[in-house]
Amino acid sequence: MQNSFEPNFDSTTFSAETYFATQPEPPSLQDDLHDVSDFIDRQIEQGRKVVLVTSGGTTVPLELNVVRFLDNFSAGTRGATSAEYFLKQGYAVIFMHRQFSLQPFSRNYSHSTHPFLDFLEIDAVLPSSSTIDSVYPYSNDPSPSAAQPQITVKMSERAALLSVLRTYKAVQAEGTLHTLTFVTVNDYLYLLRAISKKMNNLGGKAMYYFAAAVSDFFLPRQKMSEHKIQSGKGSLHIEMDQVPKILKPMVSDWAPGGFIVSFKLETDQALLIPKARQALGRYGHQVVIGNDLHHRKHRVVLVSPAKAVPSSAKLGPDGIVTREYEESWIEIDPSLSAPQKEIEEEVVKELVARHDAWINRT
Ligand code: PMT
Repeated sequence: MQNSFEPNFDSTTFSAETYFATQPEPPSLQDDLHDVSDFIDRQIEQGRKVVLVTSGGTTVPLELNVVRFLDNFSAGTRGATSAEYFLKQGYAVIFMHRQFSLQPFSRNYSHSTHPFLDFLEIDAVLPSSSTIDSVYPYSNDPSPSAAQPQITVKMSERAALLSVLRTYKAVQAEGTLHTLTFVTVNDYLYLLRAISKKMNNLGGKAMYYFAAAVSDFFLPRQKMSEHKIQSGKGSLHIEMDQVPKILKPMVSDWAPGGFIVSFKLETDQALLIPKARQALGRYGHQVVIGNDLHHRKHRVVLVSPAKAVPSSAKLGPDGIVTREYEESWIEIDPSLSAPQKEIEEEVVKELVARHDAWINRT
């Protein structure tokens, strides 16, 4: 008996054009675009390089009045951490992330791994008459006669917090971080198209860093149930359509002047390089970063077209360009963890060097 699940694929593929002609624009798009356009114009005036970092997973709603949805795996760690290192390298960052996923700076104090209440303490000079209840009252209305305690940061947390806070305040003062959110794959696609077209005004100074985990299949609005899908009628069969591969229009139409970095997530490390090469051959962008699920915090591979290869490039089956590629692995000591050492620091340094070389390539 066969126990592996073999998905059934058919050829229903939406082109990007068909997708945008048939799926509705999110209501907040124009406001979002207005704000991000101002941000980009400011960076152009100041001559900065700008990177668009996408982060977190997109959802696919199954109903119009959505109760159920499919989600894509990503906490937003890669994107939020990388955004901080791009800021450190002098880039302005447009951080487009899944609502409630990790964000630059605040990611260091995530509610699940490092909850902020745990690094605060209540200090009080206790009058001799006070009791423990006046310092840690269960009510939030302590007796007015009780000494008002002070909230302080634990000594062991201070140096790290001060460093994060200083950088965060400096970034705010400089106005170099702009944040936008998406939830569904539809929000993501509309935002990405609008922002990339606007960023194209930056020419070569624009970088795109696609760390988000984007749904590959979606349910077109026309096929969605209006109300909550009812249970009790046996198994549920849903036929989904393929989300258009946005790297294609990115390279050819929306952002032809930019430096584009995509990610490839696999669970089998042996697939990383072939899949990355396939993506580069298919879309013609600059770098694919391969990461495998279990080692992604310590090891990644950067795959890019080899520098001097135009003569070896040829059109292969399915219109995929076959050419030569080069790979460079970036690894950090697995015994070191954040915040001691983060692989994103090395990845971003390498990308910045490649982006500069690419800007100056002629
Ligand atoms: O956030 P963390 O928990 O730290 O996890 C980070 C990560 C593992 C999610 C991240 O490092 C990562 O690998 N992100 C890409 C995962 C992914 O969606 O891979 P993919 O094979 O589905 O897509 C490959 C590339 O094509 C992606 O860069 C994606 O932006 C792009 N894509 C995807 C779908 C689509 N319709 N069009 C696309 O262009």
